[in-house]
Amino acid sequence: MKQGTLLIHNGHESDPATGAVGTPIIQTSTFAQTDLTKHPEFDYARSGNPTRKALEEMIATLEDGAKGYAFGSGLAAISSVIGILSAGDHLITAEDIYGGTFRILNTFYKRWGLEVTAVNTADPENIRRAIKPNTRALYLETPSNPLLKITDLPACLAIAREAGLVSIVDNTFMSPYLQRPLELGADIVVHSATKFLGGHSDVVLGLAVTRTEELGQRVYALQNSFGAVPGPWDVWLVIRGIKTLKVRLDAQQASALKLARWLQSHKKVSAVYYPGLEGHPDKAIHEKQASGAGAVLSFKTRTTSQALDFLGKIKYTVVAESLGGVESNATYPVRMSHASMPPAERERLGITDTLVRISLGLEDVEDLVADFDQALG
Ligand SMILES: Cc1ncc(COP(=O)(O)O)c(C=O)c1O
Repeated sequence: MKQGTLLIHNGHESDPATGAVGTPIIQTSTFAQTDLTKHPEFDYARSGNPTRKALEEMIATLEDGAKGYAFGSGLAAISSVIGILSAGDHLITAEDIYGGTFRILNTFYKRWGLEVTAVNTADPENIRRAIKPNTRALYLETPSNPLLKITDLPACLAIAREAGLVSIVDNTFMSPYLQRPLELGADIVVHSATKFLGGHSDVVLGLAVTRTEELGQRVYALQNSFGAVPGPWDVWLVIRGIKTLKVRLDAQQASALKLARWLQSHKKVSAVYYPGLEGHPDKAIHEKQASGAGAVLSFKTRTTSQALDFLGKIKYTVVAESLGGVESNATYPVRMSHASMPPAERERLGITDTLVRISLGLEDVEDLVADFDQALG
């Protein structure tokens, strides 16, 4: 079955108890236990909830994994999954991962005894070179934020497998509709479902999917122990969002390509970063591992004041943290997502104060282009 069909028909198209076509929201903290000789499937809502179970099974099916787990946010999913490691273990990460992930790894987890090394994954061999006797896991994100750099997933994941590392991929930017890291060799996939899966800027939620039951049990133990679980209403919003993921992303990425091409020809724009653009250096690698370029792009203006002017004048694109909603969204990474990164590190990675990141929404692209034109002046 193709992904578009699977988004709708994934074992949860109707409720077995009532026939309801919409997934019921089971708003309860606990479950009555009528037979104390047996352990019920649901006993307490931190440990499990039928609405949450529906989403967990859905995402496991979509990512082609054994087990899925839902969390109160993307970062709750990521932090809980990293908890399968132990003090003294060494984790290798890509160097331009999401800022919040960088923060939890380099503050709490470092203090707690995890050793973390960030490498430039543009060359997969950098991963091999960073492996030490205590290396246990590899953490990747592609396309990267905010410069849309591509990591060759099969090449990096093969190195991890050879070395016996658990590999974790943040698939937020692509979603399972466009990229399925488990099929490419990853062990665990994590998501900020706050973004494209939810899709409407109205919910914060995270997901994790494991390749095996055994890894699933380890993640479940942490989901239940940390207890960073979402409530059923939030879960339901993501279930609803997933049903329209295909049509949203198809339209959003078509607009992204049009806008990226238009930006490329604008005299105030010095660079455009989008893996669907003919000039993107890793377009071929991305196309081997994903079925679309996604709906996020970034660009650099020639001067800082041009970037700030643009963000002040743009009308149909909301300037706000986040991405993946039905409304187009712009961020200014140096003051927003990457504000906590030391300026020298930002400069080294190319995250300059002329850089603007855009997530395309569902507006007519002609209106967006006209709006960008007036905002760039
Ligand atoms: C790639 C990526 N991963 C993880 C997160 C964290 O997700 P959340 O904000 O749902 O905690 C984000 C949030 O922006 C993100 O962009």
